[in-house]
Amino acid sequence: MSDYAALIAAATQSRENAHAAYSNFRVGAALRAKSGRIFGGCNVENATYGLTICAERVAIFKAISEGERGFDAIAVVTDSDSLTPPCGACRQLIWEFCGDVPVILANLKGRAELFPMHQLYPKPFDSSNF
Ligand code: THU
Repeated sequence: MSDYAALIAAATQSRENAHAAYSNFRVGAALRAKSGRIFGGCNVENATYGLTICAERVAIFKAISEGERGFDAIAVVTDSDSLTPPCGACRQLIWEFCGDVPVILANLKGRAELFPMHQLYPKPFDSSNF
């Protein structure tokens, strides 16, 4: 897990910026590009609820909009004992831009587990399907 310490730290830092006014559930994510750059993201909620965007997608869109391509890991940090896996929409986006990368789930108590994307998202829809 030492390979991912900086990524977990970045996700933990991004979580501080979460706008979780409705759920009170703060999430931080960090995406590592093959170039070495790390892009953080936090969940950003909205009074209409449905416009809420997850931390993982914020990190991905930041990276893509900065022109970055090719990623080798993503971390998700919450204050949950059970660790927080990406939602279905985020899994689709992680697959699109990152493929079968390690997904590191961590919490504020220092617990961390790694799941390869193919395990979290076993039969993805992607451009190979058409
Ligand atoms: N959330 C994330 O940011 N990422 C996840 O992987 C799971 C859920 C956010 C969305 C919403 O702001 C809050 O957590 C509760 O669902």
